[in-house]
Amino acid sequence: MTVGITPHGGELVNRVATGQEREQLLQLAKTLRTIPVSAWTVSDIDLIGVGAFSPLTGFMKKDDYQSVVHQMKLANGIVWSIPITFAVEEKLAQELTIGEKVALVGQNDGVTYAILNVEEIYAVDQKEEAINVYKTDDIAHPGVAKLYERPSTYVGGAIQVVNRPTPEKFREFYFDPSETRRIFSEKGWKTVVGFQTRNPVHRAHEYIQKSAMEIVDGLFLNPLVGETKSDDISADVRMKSYLALLENYYPKDRVFLGVFPAAMRYAGPREAIFHATVRKNYGCTHFIVGRDHAGVGDYYGTYDAQKIFSNFTPEEIGITPLFFEHSFFCKVCGNMASSKTCPHDASEHLHLSGTKVRAMLRDGIRPPEQFSRPVVADILIEGMKEQESASLK
Ligand code: ADX
Repeated sequence: MTVGITPHGGELVNRVATGQEREQLLQLAKTLRTIPVSAWTVSDIDLIGVGAFSPLTGFMKKDDYQSVVHQMKLANGIVWSIPITFAVEEKLAQELTIGEKVALVGQNDGVTYAILNVEEIYAVDQKEEAINVYKTDDIAHPGVAKLYERPSTYVGGAIQVVNRPTPEKFREFYFDPSETRRIFSEKGWKTVVGFQTRNPVHRAHEYIQKSAMEIVDGLFLNPLVGETKSDDISADVRMKSYLALLENYYPKDRVFLGVFPAAMRYAGPREAIFHATVRKNYGCTHFIVGRDHAGVGDYYGTYDAQKIFSNFTPEEIGITPLFFEHSFFCKVCGNMASSKTCPHDASEHLHLSGTKVRAMLRDGIRPPEQFSRPVVADILIEGMKEQESASLK
């Protein structure tokens, strides 16, 4: 039985084969055509397998794909905002037959991760996908660039996972949705707020997390550690900074840290919906959406990722989004605030762009403590130094 909030679509999917079934599938895999897959696809496979992407049981078929691209819903009407697809080269697509099973093998490690049932093969219009999902077809957008790197023929069908990826580091922070659900229940948390981040936790993040913690039982700090764009701070360095911050500034019994091993799409509003529904599968009842959630550059309006929720009823989403205004430190108030709580002029607010902060950290300078806790800043400075010396080698 699944504990906690109802998973998206009703049931927590489990496509991870175990025991004898797994042994049989591994034997079968040896007889199948193998298709090498990227680390991104391995992450999608695993997230489908463990039910993080419930109700998906595999890669989308055409009906679901079209409906997701145009209506933000699966063909059966369940809200879903991001296509989860498997792209193959045209030449390979021509060799595949419907009903065939293929083994999906990590291109970096040769591990057989899953068996895919080839149920449908379809060509897509990637420009249409880009414009609908990312609101742009500009290849300077990192999500669009990734989309256009992939072939435009997709294979849809259910998967069965036979091996799980082994994290290189911070293994103890990987939890499947069934585990987080159990853990939240054991902690006696009836309400849990999920926090997505691909950045170090700065004071604005801390402020909105703690504002949310005032009204729920627990915080699930759930940093995304899958593929991100190259100028984002590495997951390794971020993990160290989260641990230091939690150790020093958060009540231990009210926060749970676990990673989200998904790739970052940078799809702004649509990704906010995706992030929220997936966190419901991990057992969250609430989800924080602040300013420009999952955004990049100037592609999305500051609050577009909040406004998009009004396209759906609360029942359709099934997790309560908690919206926060752009937050900052106000010199006159002497604390963190937003336009909802601070009457002072913007000139009194501490504003630092991500680019400026990165430049400071690279130069070994701590940003003001009203922006980032010194323990966090020091870890980031150290991390940047290590990254730079590694890249010089
Ligand atoms: S994201 O791509 O994962 O959304 P980031 O890690 O920066 O990027 O943001 C994590 C969450 O904090 C998102 O919900 C985002 O909207 C919110 N957020 C980030 N900075 C601020 C801020 N200054 N004020 C309010 N919300 C913010």
